[in-house]
Amino acid sequence: MPSFTSVLALLGSASIAYGLPSARNNADPKADNPWASLKPKTVVYFGDSYTDGGRGVYFMSGSPVPPGWDESTSPFAKLGKKSWPDYVKQYSGTNSHNYAMSGASCSSVLVPRKAPIPNGPKMAGVQEDEIPGFMADKAFKKDGKDFLNDIDPASTVYTIWIGTNDLGAGGYLTDEQAPGKTVLDYVECVYSAFDKLYAAGGRKFILINNVPLDKTPLYTLPKGQGADQFYPTKPSDPTQLKAANTKVGGEVKTANDAFLAKTQKDVVTKRYPGADMVVYNVHKLFEDIISSPKDYLNGTEPPNVTGVPTFSLTNLLSGKGMSSDSYLWGDALHPSEQTDRLVAKEFVNVMTGKSKYAVY
Ligand SMILES: *[C@@H]1O[C@H](CO)[C@@H](O)[C@H](O)[C@H]1NC(C)=O
Ligand SMILES: *[C@@H]1O[C@H](CO)[C@@H](O)[C@H](O)[C@H]1NC(C)=O
Repeated sequence: MPSFTSVLALLGSASIAYGLPSARNNADPKADNPWASLKPKTVVYFGDSYTDGGRGVYFMSGSPVPPGWDESTSPFAKLGKKSWPDYVKQYSGTNSHNYAMSGASCSSVLVPRKAPIPNGPKMAGVQEDEIPGFMADKAFKKDGKDFLNDIDPASTVYTIWIGTNDLGAGGYLTDEQAPGKTVLDYVECVYSAFDKLYAAGGRKFILINNVPLDKTPLYTLPKGQGADQFYPTKPSDPTQLKAANTKVGGEVKTANDAFLAKTQKDVVTKRYPGADMVVYNVHKLFEDIISSPKDYLNGTEPPNVTGVPTFSLTNLLSGKGMSSDSYLWGDALHPSEQTDRLVAKEFVNVMTGKSKYAVY
């Protein structure tokens, strides 16, 4: 008979990766899935440039974003640039309050960053800038009424998607985190941000995990072919580049495994009594796009999951390399607009209890 420990070892990574399938799988799945009956009215977003809807530009201009600031007044919005939260809004009819800022890390103390330009401004932290921005809006009155008048706990979803900057260049990859801190400190930072949202009345939480950063052009293509200003110390030696690529992939795995383990139902019930929390495994969505791109990428060129669309005269004349909906990545580090649509579509499935990328 196998020992208890050998059985555990066998279950090992699978149970950590996907969560132990519990007895409740035998019951009516809907009965036990609080998200299946959720009628989401509002989504409050925190994150980095993946999610930024214009707030980051304001922040980087050097002045704090004042309470009551309206995202639709941002130059980004005026340019018609859509963020994935805009697509969530479009697909689900939910209201959107977006506190995400480009360049942000979970905590600007844990991973202090500066814009990659000479004397660049300090980058935001979810903890230090984004959550306080939300709290300030929550306390703010406009014409005598609550500025945020649509954040009823039962129908408001709070989501945090942060890690690209924390784990990558300028963060853990290049050992620029605060001394002695590990990836698990970043993981705990994310939950500590949810603690604050819980204390502020939030009850529906979606934690979005990290994409396969080791598949982004920034961390795969040789130096000189990516947006190297975001990774000034990118090795030109292939062996060293491979080592960096393995390192960033390992950090993503450590963080994502920890997110799943810490979002098990019993752990959540203890930390956030009366609240519901799921991990949106966007990492798996990206891996699925990479393994069958034709099913997801719909531009006019063959799908491309390694490069980026390039707007150049040569490409314009040849009619190649410019159909951005054919690409997984929009630039060296960011998802393309089509990928953002897919992220948004699946987010709507996650928050209505229907997604295979969430363990309910
Ligand atoms: C790809 O699909 C989206 C809808 O998901 C659509 O808005 C977009 O225009 C399509 N792209 C192309 C190039 O047809
Ligand atoms: C993907 O796009 C890049 C341009 O960024 C190009 O160099 C590469 O050949 C493309 N790959 C495929 C499979 O078409």
